[in-house]
Parts: sequence; C-alpha cells; structure tokens
Amino acid sequence: MPPLAQQERTPVRKNDFAPLIECDAVLRDLIASGGPVPSDYAHVNRTLRHLGDAVRAKVIAREDVLAYAHDVTNRYLAGTMQARALGKKYGYSGDFEIIEAIYTLQTAQEPHLRRWDLYFHSQAAPNAVRNRKAYFHQLLHSHSAERTKAPLSVLNVASGPARDVREWVLDNPEREVFFDCVDAEIHAIERAKKLCEPFSKRVEFYHRNVLRFLPAKGYELVWSAGLFDYLTDRTFVFLLKALMAVTKRGGEVVVGNFSTYNPSRDYMELLGDWVLQHRTQDHLRDLALQAGALADSIEVNWEPEGVNLFLHIRR
Ligand SMILES: C[S@@+](CC[C@H](N)C(=O)[O-])C[C@H]1O[C@@H](n2cnc3c(N)ncnc32)[C@H](O)[C@@H]1O
Repeated sequence: MPPLAQQERTPVRKNDFAPLIECDAVLRDLIASGGPVPSDYAHVNRTLRHLGDAVRAKVIAREDVLAYAHDVTNRYLAGTMQARALGKKYGYSGDFEIIEAIYTLQTAQEPHLRRWDLYFHSQAAPNAVRNRKAYFHQLLHSHSAERTKAPLSVLNVASGPARDVREWVLDNPEREVFFDCVDAEIHAIERAKKLCEPFSKRVEFYHRNVLRFLPAKGYELVWSAGLFDYLTDRTFVFLLKALMAVTKRGGEVVVGNFSTYNPSRDYMELLGDWVLQHRTQDHLRDLALQAGALADSIEVNWEPEGVNLFLHIRR
C-alpha cells in the first residue's frame, strides 16, 4: 500500500461532461423550435467550438461525443446531411453521394429537417467543396486554352460522381478534352457513367484502386480532389510519385487537401465523425519534395474560402 500522500497524487481521469450537456441543450432547443435559422448559426458554431476544445484538452472523450452524436442524430435528424455523413453508407463520411449532395445543395423535404441541411450547406467546408469544382474548371480552361492543336488529356483520380467533368463538358463542348476517371467504388463509377453518358466518347472510366493501378497513357493534367486528405503522409507521397510518373513533361499534377484552417472542423468531426488529414501549405510542399518534385516546380494555392488547398507540381 503506497503512503497516503502518494495515493492522493494519483491522477484521476477527469470527465467533465459540461460542454456536452451545453451542446445537448442547444441542439434540443433548436430541434424543438424546428431547426436552426441563420441567426442561430454562430451560437451553434460557438457551442461546437467549446465541445471541440474540451475534446482537444482531453477533458471529455471523443468516443463519448460520438456516441451522443449518433444518438441525437438517429432520434431526431434521420435523413439529414449530418445523418448521411454519420451513417457512412460506403464506409466513410465523404462518399460520392454526399459529395454529389453538396454540389447540388440537396436538402430534406420536411421543413424541420431542411433547416439542418441549410445549416450544413452554409458552412465553410461544403462551400470549399463547391469551390473546388470551380477551381478544377478554371484549370481545364487554362490548360485547354494552351493546347491549340492536339486534344488535352486529363486524369481524374478518385473521380467520385464526376459531376465536375459533366458540367465542364456541357459548358465547353467545343474544347477537345479527354478524361480518364478512376474510382474504387463501383456505385460511384455507375453514377458517374450515367452523368457523363451524353459524351461517353470523351470520358473513360476505370473501376480501380488508385494505389494499385493508374492508366498510364500520359496526361497534360492530373487532378485529384477529396482523396489525399484521407491519406497518411506515407501513402500521400507514394501516390503523388505515381501521379507525377503519368504526367507528361510540361504538364501539371494538382492535388487538393483541406487546410488546417477549417472553421467547420469541429462540426465535421464531432457531429459527422468526418475526420480528415488537414495540412498546411508548408506540409504539402514538404510532401511534394519527398515525392521528388523540384522546389521551383511546386506551388500551393487555395479556393476563396481558404479551406481547400491545392498543391501544384509542374513537370
Ligand atoms: C470525397 S470523394 C471525391 C470525389 C471527387 N473527386 C470530387 O471532388 O467530386 C472521394 C472519392 O474517392 C474514392 N476513393 C477513395 N479511395 C480510393 C482509392 N484508393 N482508389 C480510387 N478511388 C478512391 C471514393 O470512392 C470516392 O468516390
């Protein structure tokens, strides 16, 4: 038996549920009043921030918050974007259906659920996802404008619903651009094929894991968004090397990754169990160097929210 003084010093695991109780009170009030309206958003965000701070400080366990999130979402918010993210129908939160729902601003029909979806879509992260589609379109514009004689070949890595491809081809039928799209999820491939059916001669789909297979035709532009922010640093470097290898000289690899500046992070992680590898510009630059990119061929840009960064590597 240790001396009493030593027993008293034994650390007791603190589990202060106050931030979770506060969050529950705020959510229940909003559920009872028919969902949040824009004037409530700042209050909800602040409450989630307090909860996030408590999790980061290890005052409350992340698992306890997630158990709560599942419970409240299943009871009151079934069918909302939040419930779909938490449900992980295809094994993880940011699947092609969720991304498609973000692009098309899908909301539940029932008014009391619809308000939660409007809150979801108002946040910085979904805005950044919609902005990255515009970012890809801008890249396609500039690369295809550079090519006056031969068509442009583009590799879209983890292409999901390929809604970005569909919209660009519909808006730019005169530009000669050919796309190879790779995705590991057969339902994503099927959905994307349907969306791109009207111009199937310009878009080829590969149902493959990009960590094991990439079509190696040689591309002027290699694009990947919504994949690298799920990868560890080691896998990031491995895949980036592979993408650089299939990019033609003079071409460009562009890879999206969420930034450490993400005001939606607590909402995503605590109420959606949507966890990403957030990275800084310097971190992305460093990973590009590890993949063998030359220092002066690397650039990091971002979309207007500043949430989604884009690592560019010129070949
Ligand atoms: C968040 S979605 C992004 C979709 C699309 N790039 C966009 O931004 O609209 C991620 C996609 O990556 C695919 N994916 C995840 N891991 C993959 C892998 N190892 N190989 C190929 N596709 C993968 C998923 O099936 C999903 O469709």
